[in-house]
Amino acid sequence: MSVFDDKTILITGGAGFIGSALVRNLVRNHNSRIVVIDKLTYAASDYALEPVINAVNFVLEPYDICDGSKMDALLEFYRPDAVVHLAAESHVDRSIDSPGAFINTNIVGTYMLLEASLNYWSGLSLDNKERFRFLHVSTDEVFGSLGSEGLFNEATSYAPNSPYSASKAASDHLVRAWHKTFDLPVLITNCTNNYGPYQFLEKLIPTVISKAIRGEAIPVYGQGVNVRDWLYVEDHVNALKRVLADGRVGETYCIGGSCEKNNIEVVTTICRLMDSLVPLSDNVPRESLIMFVEDRPGHDARYAMDTTFIRDSLGWSPKESFESGIQKTLNWYLAHRHWWQDIIEYKFDGKRLGNGERLSVRNIHNPI
Ligand code: NAD
Ligand code: TYD
Repeated sequence: MSVFDDKTILITGGAGFIGSALVRNLVRNHNSRIVVIDKLTYAASDYALEPVINAVNFVLEPYDICDGSKMDALLEFYRPDAVVHLAAESHVDRSIDSPGAFINTNIVGTYMLLEASLNYWSGLSLDNKERFRFLHVSTDEVFGSLGSEGLFNEATSYAPNSPYSASKAASDHLVRAWHKTFDLPVLITNCTNNYGPYQFLEKLIPTVISKAIRGEAIPVYGQGVNVRDWLYVEDHVNALKRVLADGRVGETYCIGGSCEKNNIEVVTTICRLMDSLVPLSDNVPRESLIMFVEDRPGHDARYAMDTTFIRDSLGWSPKESFESGIQKTLNWYLAHRHWWQDIIEYKFDGKRLGNGERLSVRNIHNPI
């Protein structure tokens, strides 16, 4: 019997990359009832939920977290023991082109979900109030950019630089405030860059893998020297489960892979591995496909996490090394070409995003 058995867990953004990995893990391994609320934006994947869609303990509610009365109704109806909040607009480049959707979903949506959760929580019995948790899933990008030395940790000041990270920072602050002011039992996690199966093609690693398989030019922003700390998605899922099960209310937990790599290192590793798995027909090394392109505006130089607190307090540590995680990821993308080829055909053709061409005009009444 685990702490998740016989519990109802409501997961927002459960049709996305990390959310669906959490859902598949919980449905597969525990006797909990999983309710996903997901607006099913471009970033969602039906296919990522296919392994669980017919499970008796799984429900998908295709709604927008910005719809406050719908959130009230869903919480009252399902009466969850926990809310895990992953729904978000998640791509920095899109936030440069069209910040409005980030303001709406990440800030207003989080506010709506907090209010609905507070209304619901206030009406629970003392025992159930004590047990309820609101786990807010956030990013290390709220801390801004590191120089060549040092690591982020739970005490690092917020200094977001992109519209995405600013909107996530705002959502973290709201969650903290709903705890401090209204006693809502919250937990916050800030995690580094994830990679793994079902990640939408706009992000670095799936971009490189899909273009490398197809023998297309691989875009590297600037000089490729920016550093990210990479974590395999299943390790993130296990960290979220540890925090949900045993995290201390009101606490922030920093999660990371302790795996710093600059972008060019990531790209060349994928090129070389792909050459050994499926050489291009003319044996051209895929590194020759690398194309240095105009840098991202406001590009954060380095992210890296000190994970001492979650390791010491909750006994979590990542299981995958970058070598094992990237190998699994490559194998998955090779075996699931139909998944990402459909994305290229119907949703995203791989064109450059976030180089300054504004796609939306601000409208105070409708920020999207
Ligand atoms: P994703 O873009 O793959 O998925 C986001 C999901 O949220 C999608 O299924 C989408 O349909 C849903 N969604 C978007 N707007 C919504 C709305 N208004 N109402 C309901 N659903 C909505 O994102 P991801 O990479 O899985 O990230 C999940 C969470 O984890 C995000 O909050 C993100 O900030 C955070 N995070 C991501 C990473 C990473 O490397 N991907 C790292 C740290 C933290
Ligand atoms: P990304 O996956 O967008 O994550 P984030 O910006 O949230 O860290 O990008 C990871 C790094 O890769 C970042 O430094 C930008 C860079 N990058 C490229 O060089 N080329 C690309 O095509 C993409 C999408 C990102």
